[in-house]
Amino acid sequence: MKGVIFNAVEEAVVRLYDEDTWDDLLDAAKLDGHYTALGSYDDADLGALVGAACPMTGHEPHELIRVLGRHAFPHLADRYPELVDEATGTHDFLRRVNDIIHPEVLKLHPDAKPPSFEFEDLSDDVLRITYKSARKLGVLAEGLILGAGDRFGEHVEVTIISGLDEEVTVFDVRAVKMADQSN
Ligand code: HEM
Repeated sequence: MKGVIFNAVEEAVVRLYDEDTWDDLLDAAKLDGHYTALGSYDDADLGALVGAACPMTGHEPHELIRVLGRHAFPHLADRYPELVDEATGTHDFLRRVNDIIHPEVLKLHPDAKPPSFEFEDLSDDVLRITYKSARKLGVLAEGLILGAGDRFGEHVEVTIISGLDEEVTVFDVRAVKMADQSN
């Protein structure tokens, strides 16, 4: 996995807790933590960090990854500010991640393996997303989607339809502008 994901997770831990917690996590997971954005690191490091963080935070693994993904989103989004500005909302942005951002990641780093998404509009408010990746990190995607909702000022609900922890995860993403919730 590219270091930028570990940098984003570090930022999430520091936002939610503090620098010392990140250092404690690295110690507990027996990792040195020198992640550079462009480097590539063992996927198992992420599992080790989550394994160490669960007992420290009291979260169960899914909840922890979801929370970390949500708070990791700003770090990733800040790399593509113009795409965030151009997007009309969460759903539109998620399409841009799949059509523009992840392909761009792949162009710059042929060793990267970002997930792919398929989209189906179920209604004005609900987008069905099919996540595909051998890494089986649909729950991280769920957290990042919640983080996108925060950025766009939308109330976002993610319902898992099938396949959490599988290579194919289907979720329905309801996104409603905060001001429109009474409609
Ligand atoms: C501007 C925002 C984003 C940037 C710059 C970005 C970039 C990246 C990069 C560099 C990777 C690592 C790929 C690798 O090392 O093989 C990655 C993985 C991933 N991205 Fe994104 N991403 C962004 C937004 C999102 C969003 C909104 C979602 C949620 C739908 C998402 C879902 C994922 C997941 C789940 C992975 C983990 C790898 C996997 O599941 O296969 N990303 N992304």
